Amino acid sequence: MNVALGVGGGIAAYKAAELARLLMEHGHSVQVVMTRAAQEFVRPLTFAALTGRKVITGLFPGENAADTLDSATEHIRVAQESALLVVAPATADLLAKFAHGIADDFLTTMYLAFTGPVVLAPAMNSNMWRHEATQRNLDTLRGRGHIVVEPEEGPLACGMVGPGRLADPARIAEAVNTAIARTRDLEGECVLVTAGPTQEPLDPVRFISNRSSGKMGYAIAAAALARGARVILVSGPVHLTPPAGAELIRVETAAEMRRAVLERLPEATIVVKAAAVADYYLAQVPSQKRKKSAARWSLELDPTPDILAELGQIKGDRLLVGFAAETENLVAEARRKLQAKNCDMLVANRVEEAFGADDNEITLVLRTGEVIELPRASKRELADKIFDYLLQLRLSLHAAR
Ligand code: PMT
Repeated sequence: MNVALGVGGGIAAYKAAELARLLMEHGHSVQVVMTRAAQEFVRPLTFAALTGRKVITGLFPGENAADTLDSATEHIRVAQESALLVVAPATADLLAKFAHGIADDFLTTMYLAFTGPVVLAPAMNSNMWRHEATQRNLDTLRGRGHIVVEPEEGPLACGMVGPGRLADPARIAEAVNTAIARTRDLEGECVLVTAGPTQEPLDPVRFISNRSSGKMGYAIAAAALARGARVILVSGPVHLTPPAGAELIRVETAAEMRRAVLERLPEATIVVKAAAVADYYLAQVPSQKRKKSAARWSLELDPTPDILAELGQIKGDRLLVGFAAETENLVAEARRKLQAKNCDMLVANRVEEAFGADDNEITLVLRTGEVIELPRASKRELADKIFDYLLQLRLSLHAAR
């Protein structure tokens, strides 16, 4: 694989040389891009000697010690030719620029032009690491699906002791290999995802709905796309931008969601039902707006069709993932739903934490009986973990046949 290694300006820049060596040892060819500040700490020649390639040190030919730039669009070429971008050390400044789309040198410009997986290994002073600005930038970057290899705790060059030391290069190389393995492991798959709430009308202006924002389902769609799948995203009404490349089918009601899902099911190899489908609806919706009055308004609601249960009956060889939003007995309820709806995996989460939030804490209950608790992380990171376990599950189900 062609790996682009961005080196930021920090004391730990010298450790990036060891990372370059490890990446080469793992069979990758490495193109090093150094920021101006990085060159204050390590000479480009070190990386050139290790990688056997000229090191890129600036956006313009005059800024490049080794005259490496063949054209003014070199950053686009490197972005297109690289399978992965790893940045080590990722300084607070680089994280801020990536998070906000500031492109003022080769590395930050290339980052914007790059569409593949990104691994970030931050290193900085503990206070800079804990600063709200840095942590918010990291949340943004994690939300984009980038892997953040957390810094380690220990004595720092500034004399402080705390978090901020660049992770061991072996850990960073491992994260690179995980990210590379994920880039293609859903190739050939068609993932059908449902997301968001449904809205069940009561009259032309009123409806019953719930607090689902669609973030979990959209994160699943984004993860599947990044791993090479074709994605059909059936979405209730939400205020999110769909991930580029997903085929979006907008629906409002549970009945519309059911129709769309059943229509597209034949194409799907994996179905993930992250939507919060309304459980009840009004069968006869009046055509006129109900006038406000002092009188009580009683409604008789019918249950909506249970789409997941229906899919469980006809799923065939497809992998079927359901969600369970619970207020109590998380695992027991998830197990019950997994069996009742014939799912392969049930993702259980807590109502009070899951709805509308950017991150979540989930428990995976598998058809094999295994229960996996995943600690709090961004929904995008959890989406990747869901696919990691789902693919492992498929292997063990095949092996058991
Ligand atoms: O959208 P976010 O704000 O990011 O929040 C994410 C989430 C909380 C909505 C998501 O993580 C989640 O838990 N989704 C499922 C919510 C839910 O409806 O849970 P449930 O336990 O009521 O339903 C169980 C499963 O049956 C779900 O997969 C649901 O999609 C499915 N179902 C439910 C009712 C119905 N009529 N048809 C269904 O298919």
